[in-house]
Amino acid sequence: MSTQPSRTKSTLIFGGAAIWGLLLVSCVVTSRTMVAPPSIPGATFVGSGKCASCHEEVSHSFSDATHAKLIAKGDNGNEMIGCESCHGPGSLHVKSGGSFGTILNPNKSPETCFQCHTEKRGEFSLPSTHAVLAGKMTCSDCHDSHKGDSVIGGGTNMASMNETCLKCHQAQMGPYAFEHEATRDGCVVCHSPHGSVNARMLKSTNANLCLQCHAQTQTAPGVYTIGGRDHAGSMLRGTCWVAGCHEGVHGSHVNNSLRF
Ligand code: HEC
Ligand code: HEC
Ligand code: HEC
Ligand code: HEC
Ligand code: HEC
Ligand code: HEC
Ligand code: HEC
Repeated sequence: MSTQPSRTKSTLIFGGAAIWGLLLVSCVVTSRTMVAPPSIPGATFVGSGKCASCHEEVSHSFSDATHAKLIAKGDNGNEMIGCESCHGPGSLHVKSGGSFGTILNPNKSPETCFQCHTEKRGEFSLPSTHAVLAGKMTCSDCHDSHKGDSVIGGGTNMASMNETCLKCHQAQMGPYAFEHEATRDGCVVCHSPHGSVNARMLKSTNANLCLQCHAQTQTAPGVYTIGGRDHAGSMLRGTCWVAGCHEGVHGSHVNNSLRF
């Protein structure tokens, strides 16, 4: 809040009221520092309307973008999550007719996103993660800031969310002779794409990963059944996907029990 270049306090108080409401829950949990728009020395905010005259296409499609839906109109007509909340104040850029180096491009650094999504920095610092902090990948590889769902193919459409992953991870796509239906529920059922303490960005390193869907039942003393078969002995050998067991977690070419 301390770094509010030229945006008036009232924008934050009135214009931001709805957003504050939205953020309240996560604020309490993650104690994120609130919305401090990125800054460009000497520049002031001009409003999204000004951008539309030169960037018609982006501005037009922005209306159905997740972040645009979070716009809170204030008394002064300014909005909270407009173009400049990610690109920084645009006065110098507009005045110069769009000359290079006068506006921020978040693809060059995730810092812009971290201003509001503070907790993501931590997630991308975990031992197993995508190399966003190293600058080898960007948030935009999986998120579209300008139109539609921010999580590409997100919402209820898991199949198309998977496509985001599969454009880089073709090996997990198959087609497999024996598909593992779990992947239809989304790669994120088992992986945390922002990062995890576990290798391979796994949500869990043990049987719990699989038991979220495959119930384990004790049918008799010492007999633990999963998928209709006693697993008491198998479970002692390690995780479900160790050698000789269900190695083909994403699907198998040879075995319907996903053994290879
Ligand atoms: C007077 C015309 C004009 C206006 C108004 C304008 N831009 Fe631009 N903008 C340009 C031009 C020209 C370029 C450089 C060529 C290109 O990439 O399209 C550019 C480039 C950009 C880039 C890419 C910069 C980079 O380093 O990759 C961003 C982001 C951008 N503008 C955002 C905005 C935003 C946000 C606004 C409103 C605050 C805005 N522009 C208003 C003309 C304009
Ligand atoms: C939630 C953050 C966010 C908001 C809000 C946002 N952008 Fe962007 N913008 C990005 C990111 C990330 C990139 C780089 C990746 C890309 O090109 O999609 C980008 C790239 C751009 C570019 C350069 C590349 C291109 O597509 O031509 C322009 C121009 C641009 N934005 C204009 C705008 C305008 C105009 C608005 C408001 C209508 C806006 N942006 C709102 C995040 C944002
Ligand atoms: C000005 C603050 C602000 C900035 C900057 C910002 N966001 Fe957001 N974003 C929000 C708010 C507020 C929400 C909704 C509440 C939440 O999830 O925290 C949101 C939601 C999201 C979501 C979830 C959408 C959904 O459908 O659930 C994604 C993904 C996202 N932002 C990505 C980004 C990326 C990538 C950037 C950088 C290019 C970015 N955001 C920059 C404020 C911001
Ligand atoms: C490898 C792909 C990938 C990258 C890179 C990525 N995300 Fe995500 N992100 C996802 C997926 C997939 C989801 C949906 C997760 C779910 O539904 O369980 C998501 C969800 C989100 C959400 C909403 C839910 C939540 O976890 O809060 C936010 C906000 C978000 N991402 C921000 C970011 C930011 C900021 C960056 C860059 C620093 C980023 N993401 C980079 C794939 C990615
Ligand atoms: C833009 C390309 C790209 C996208 C999109 C992408 N990834 Fe990745 N992913 C990589 C790269 C590069 C690595 C690190 C190199 C490697 O080991 O393959 C990686 C690593 C991984 C790993 C760990 C591999 C290991 O051996 O430790 C998992 C798991 C993973 N990604 C899952 C996902 C999921 C799930 C999604 C979709 C939400 C996704 N990825 C989207 C490029 C991508
Ligand atoms: C049922 C849980 C599950 C689902 C769903 C899942 N994975 Fe995995 N994935 C795993 C496990 C377990 C490993 C670790 C395998 C190992 O260490 O031998 C793994 C490993 C990986 C790796 C590392 C390379 C490899 O194959 O060992 C990548 C990349 C990966 N998964 C991507 C994906 C993508 C992309 C999707 C969605 C299409 C996906 N995963 C869906 C459980 C899953
Ligand atoms: C999102 C839910 C989900 C998760 C998580 C999941 N599975 Fe599955 N799995 C399914 C569904 C659905 C089927 C197909 C129906 C069935 O056979 O139960 C299946 C089928 C299987 C089969 C084939 C059963 C047969 O005889 O045809 C094996 C083996 C299997 N899963 C192992 C695993 C392992 C190992 C894990 C953990 C890495 C795992 N599953 C995680 C949903 C899941």
